Amino acid sequence: MADTMQGLKRTHYCGTLREEHIGQTVVVSGWVQRNRDLGNLMFIDLRDRSGIVQLSFDDTTDKALFEKASTARSEFVLMAQGVVLARESINKDIPTGKIEIQVNDLRILAKSETPPFEITDTTNVKEDLRLKYRYLDLRRSELQNRIISRHKIVKIARDYFDENGFIEVETPILIKSTPEGARDYLVPSRVHHGKFYALPQSPQLYKQLLMLSGYDRYMQIARCFRDEDLRADRQPEFTQIDVEMSFVDEEDVMTINEGFIKRVFKEFLNYDVPTPFRRIPYDEAMDRYGIDKPDTRFGLELCNLSDLLTDCEFKVFAGALANGGSVRGINVKGAASALSRKEIDKLTDFVKTYRAKGLAFTRITADGESSSFEKFLKPEEVAAIRERMGAEVGDVLLIVADKNQVVYDSLGQLRNHLARKLNLIEPNTYDFLWVTDFPLFEYDEEEGRYAAKHHPFTSPKLDQLDRLENDKDHCYARAYDVIINGYEVGGGSIRINDPEVQNKMFKALGFTEEQAMERFGFLLNAFKYGVPPHGGMAYGLDRLIMIMTGTENIRDVIAFPKVQNASELMTNCPDFVEDKSLAELAIAVVPEEEK
Ligand code: AMO
Ligand code: AMP
Repeated sequence: MADTMQGLKRTHYCGTLREEHIGQTVVVSGWVQRNRDLGNLMFIDLRDRSGIVQLSFDDTTDKALFEKASTARSEFVLMAQGVVLARESINKDIPTGKIEIQVNDLRILAKSETPPFEITDTTNVKEDLRLKYRYLDLRRSELQNRIISRHKIVKIARDYFDENGFIEVETPILIKSTPEGARDYLVPSRVHHGKFYALPQSPQLYKQLLMLSGYDRYMQIARCFRDEDLRADRQPEFTQIDVEMSFVDEEDVMTINEGFIKRVFKEFLNYDVPTPFRRIPYDEAMDRYGIDKPDTRFGLELCNLSDLLTDCEFKVFAGALANGGSVRGINVKGAASALSRKEIDKLTDFVKTYRAKGLAFTRITADGESSSFEKFLKPEEVAAIRERMGAEVGDVLLIVADKNQVVYDSLGQLRNHLARKLNLIEPNTYDFLWVTDFPLFEYDEEEGRYAAKHHPFTSPKLDQLDRLENDKDHCYARAYDVIINGYEVGGGSIRINDPEVQNKMFKALGFTEEQAMERFGFLLNAFKYGVPPHGGMAYGLDRLIMIMTGTENIRDVIAFPKVQNASELMTNCPDFVEDKSLAELAIAVVPEEEK
């Protein structure tokens, strides 16, 4: 039988004790980090969420108590009463390192089996094992600090938006499926045979309706669900700080949100964010960085070489240009010694993962130069490329020729990859910017139709309404994304508030009037009753916390995250359900091989 806490009450958290407590009798509780038994001396490191304190036992300790303490192994749960003493051998590594507690009452409240891995921050155990035993992993202070940081950042968000007149409203989790964007998670209805709810990909339509209902400024810490391929910064369920405002234009929304970023960085990191943020139109971001969420903490900008190569006879370049593509490159300044031939081969493999067919290079060193493509070009073409790229001794020129999208993807990612590889990013620096003027549409080759680049409720630029019908490729949106260190941390737009424009938009997306009514009838109906101009945005809260706590893994900032294949390893979900449950829902599962 385990001991009880009877007669003892915790007086302090372990990590809070200091020299000023010397002489006091205190009661602490927590988990055994480790137990060092030196025969007539014994030390137990006791851990709670605030840190670690040393419990000490010596020849003045009651014999029975000493013996009991010696049975306490790692992760046992203890409560201990004792007197705070100055420590003989100071431990500079921990805040409580100058004191210890000489124990006079000890309770073993729970025993523990030997955990599958040691609970320390220096653990190098595989992540899958840590996720299976997530409740143990969550005991590690590194992870605890991130989860506590998350709480603090959410609180700052609530405070900031509250102080600026935003009202938090909860919107439903079981909603109508309106797929546009990612795939929906569906929930079968028991009551309505054959019908399904969807889980929200975001509260988008509800927050717009709240504007119509006169709430003026809304915010919500909103859980969102998207059945899409996972990446290091994506989860199937994630959280947004979702905001919407009435009677505003882009400037109003951007200003209030710059205020939020400034506030949260100051309050949480004591970091002064300069405002207003820089703004880069989408087309410029693509042209200079190949990506719509550029990390501008380093150079390595893309250089368009297409116009220099119109008569070129090198098949690779000429072929790409003939197909309407482009030839672009990056000059990796002074990297000739860092990027050997072998390293360039690795970079070639890297860009191939982004569908590039190869990576043409020129490496210029003091001893000479080597190039994979210059021999195929005329001397004046070589000279023009080198001049445009500002090539000097010590540089490496890396070039991709292909369809624009492939060139952008591969060089945009190569740029980020090189910055990390060559240590071009100063640690603990942040780079804030808006990417603006997104295209309204993007052509979906698979479906053979235009899709909304953001979502179908985003307003086109007011002077481009006619392009909804006759020039979709050049119709731009009143949309903006906030980018921090190359992450898309948030995005939003001014919405369509004119029912006629909304109808035109649905038409442009290929919906018939009936289809639009069927899917979005509630919105179109609502819009008949006086909808104010409105706009807003949503932050990926998880991504914001990743950046602010310095991790590149989204799972580090979520208490119970999912892995790559969208399962949760601790509870082993998703899982099969009983036939009875399926029968109630009138659902039959097709065998895997017939799927
Ligand atoms: P959007 O789809 O751009 O906009 O989402 C807003 C922000 O949410 C984050 N995010 C994600 N984070 C983690 N895992 C995911 N799977 C994931 N998907 C998106 C990103 C992104 O910038 N309703 C609109 C917002 C608006 O227009 O107001 C929306 O959802 O950081
Ligand atoms: P090849 O003539 O195929 O040997 O190619 C000559 C050089 O061009 C090699 O360095 C290839 O890696 C490179 N290359 C091939 N395809 C492309 C491409 N699409 N873009 C840029 N370089 C390429």
